[in-house]
Amino acid sequence: MHQQPSTMRAAIRFLLLFVAALAVLAWGASALFNRQAMVWAERDMGLRARLLASSAEPSLRDATGASARRLLDAMVRDERLMGAALCHPNGRPEVASNGFPATLGCASLPGEALRAGDAGWDRAISGPSGASHLTVIPLGADTAKPRLLLLVHDMSFVDRRADTTIQYTFIAFALVGLLGAAAATVVARLSWLSWTEQLRKVLLAPFRAMDAVAPRLFQPLLSDVRGLVTTLAVEEAGAETGWNPERLQQVLRRQLGGEGILVVANREPYVHERDGRGGLRVVHPASGLVTALEPVMRACSGTWIAHGSGSGDFDAVDASDHVRVPPDRPIYDLRRLRLSSEEEQGYYYGFSNEGLWPLCHMAHTRPEFRSRDWEQYQRVNRRFADAVADEASSPDPIVLVQDYHFALLPRYLRARLPRATILTFWHIPWPNAERFGVCPWERELLDGLLGSSIVGFHTQAHCNNFMESVDRYLEARLDRERHSVVQGGRETLVRAYPISIDWPSRYAEGTAPAAECHAAVRRELGIPEDALLGVGVDRLDYTKGIEERFLAVERLLERWPTYRGRFWFVQIAAPSRVIIEAYRTLNERVEALAHRINERFGRDGWRPIILERSHHEPPAIFRMYRAADLCYVSSLHDGMNLVAKEFVAARDDLRGVLVLSRFTGAARELSEALIVNPYDIDSAAAALADALAMPEDEQEERMRAMRSLVSELNVYRWAGKMLLDATRTRRRERLASRLSVGKGPGG
Ligand code: G6P
Repeated sequence: MHQQPSTMRAAIRFLLLFVAALAVLAWGASALFNRQAMVWAERDMGLRARLLASSAEPSLRDATGASARRLLDAMVRDERLMGAALCHPNGRPEVASNGFPATLGCASLPGEALRAGDAGWDRAISGPSGASHLTVIPLGADTAKPRLLLLVHDMSFVDRRADTTIQYTFIAFALVGLLGAAAATVVARLSWLSWTEQLRKVLLAPFRAMDAVAPRLFQPLLSDVRGLVTTLAVEEAGAETGWNPERLQQVLRRQLGGEGILVVANREPYVHERDGRGGLRVVHPASGLVTALEPVMRACSGTWIAHGSGSGDFDAVDASDHVRVPPDRPIYDLRRLRLSSEEEQGYYYGFSNEGLWPLCHMAHTRPEFRSRDWEQYQRVNRRFADAVADEASSPDPIVLVQDYHFALLPRYLRARLPRATILTFWHIPWPNAERFGVCPWERELLDGLLGSSIVGFHTQAHCNNFMESVDRYLEARLDRERHSVVQGGRETLVRAYPISIDWPSRYAEGTAPAAECHAAVRRELGIPEDALLGVGVDRLDYTKGIEERFLAVERLLERWPTYRGRFWFVQIAAPSRVIIEAYRTLNERVEALAHRINERFGRDGWRPIILERSHHEPPAIFRMYRAADLCYVSSLHDGMNLVAKEFVAARDDLRGVLVLSRFTGAARELSEALIVNPYDIDSAAAALADALAMPEDEQEERMRAMRSLVSELNVYRWAGKMLLDATRTRRRERLASRLSVGKGPGG
């Protein structure tokens, strides 16, 4: 049978250990045995010597000189006896047999041997030709001062026997080991076959009958397998029938035991601001991340951990810095973290927004990397990881880590909660490997992200860039078939999950019908009822191409003078990251450009560009979408851009044209928009002209197609797909750990 390399390795490791253990045992056994054999041999030699002495005593007792010498020579004819000697009672040598070892003579006897008395004295000694045994026996114990008979026995045969014993012991152990291993292999193989057979029976049984067929041992395994099957079924069903909050809840309930999820994002979904009259007002921040994630949290519940950045944020929280949100119908917890101004400066403004943001967006702003910002980035990532560990109610929570503010957090969190399922979503583009290498801490960032179970991006191109960066800067294995990275034995899946908005959109549902918005917005802006209206909605950010957008409006008016006096473009620009120099200068440039164009074309109270540089709440923005004839999204580079999708969601009247930059993730999905290169001012202006002149039936056709797509690919699908991948990963890991526990040596 084909053996997996890891199984082979485990078998070899087991065999080596087994052999080593047997060798130690054999060595110990022979040492013990030899010691005992030596004790017995000594005892035998002592007895033998006494026997010899007692049979020789009658003749030796009075013999002296030559007769004594003859008797001693006769004694040593015995092959084991090396020598015999007689000593005077005081130890002086008297006579010794032929060849008696000189070093063992009477003169060298220890005092205790001389004083040993009737019982005599004996000891194993090392003689001139190896191990020997010396016995001292008094002759004529009945006399006052008996002479002493010395007998030296050869004991080198004990060493020879010991060598033979060791050899036999090792051979015996080797045979036992071999037989034992063979028997164990046969038994393991037989039980493995029967285990596999039983498992196959269980898996082939009808779904409902599985429990009855399965032995108790298989129950945990069975529940994992069943979970995996249900995951696939739910996913398939989801793909067919569409995703909505209920289906997402179902996934959480069925697949994840109804566990609430933990979201970590720098930006909070609700900001409490002091209103100056001692009260608090709630603001919805302008953030694509919040737009996408908030409906998911409403569906899933759990805890959103964020930086408490509002002036009144900590007036609204309880003692543990939690507040239930949404404020009008609380469903989930918002946990706010206080950051010192030094932390906010270094981590948020510095490293995240002057470093990573321009690094990841091709918008020609130079990234700035400073060590002091990096230190704060590390510090705040650690603080957020601590907060997640605090909030987790189990050792394996599901954590959704959001965006470039938290590249290190997954690794920090993995160290605290090794069994957590960490899904990290990068909401902005991922640059190519070469550009990413500009960051001085490129390895640390990649390694941090690989603490995640899954890293998600909007597009496959961003996934590929990420994989290339890992390949170039880290020691890790890329599995291009599974789209994953394996590092230190842990796998991180790298997947594209195009983000989206809720559908049906709660803001669209709460907005007045298009005709009403059309009239009301024009009235409020002070422009004629039949005015043509274009709209742009962004944070004031250099990636959004707001200057290019205004230049396109200018070119439209140059080349199609018919729109002069009839076309207005409203730009809603929410102030953003205003303490950063690049944003401040952008503010000034945008304002100056709008002013110049308005000066150039303005007449009779008509000014083509209305620039509203202030925060707008979602209902006001949706009214604007519904009132507009076109929406122009001109990002120079954008991960997805949800304004494009929100505009589509708002237009249930099937009117209005979306003009969309090809450098957004959204352009890959919304192909019925008029796709433009925002740098190409002439073509963009032509697209605006086409949009304004587009027949209603064409508008309807395009809008219908885009609405059908966004309704299918909504944010519940985005979250659902990620969570299903996560549950599959979780189950696979559990299954793998169970299988490796139950794995027999033959497997
Ligand atoms: C982008 C980022 C988000 C961020 C949002 C607003 O969409 O990906 O993480 O929240 O911009 O930016 P801000 O800095 O105000 O949170």
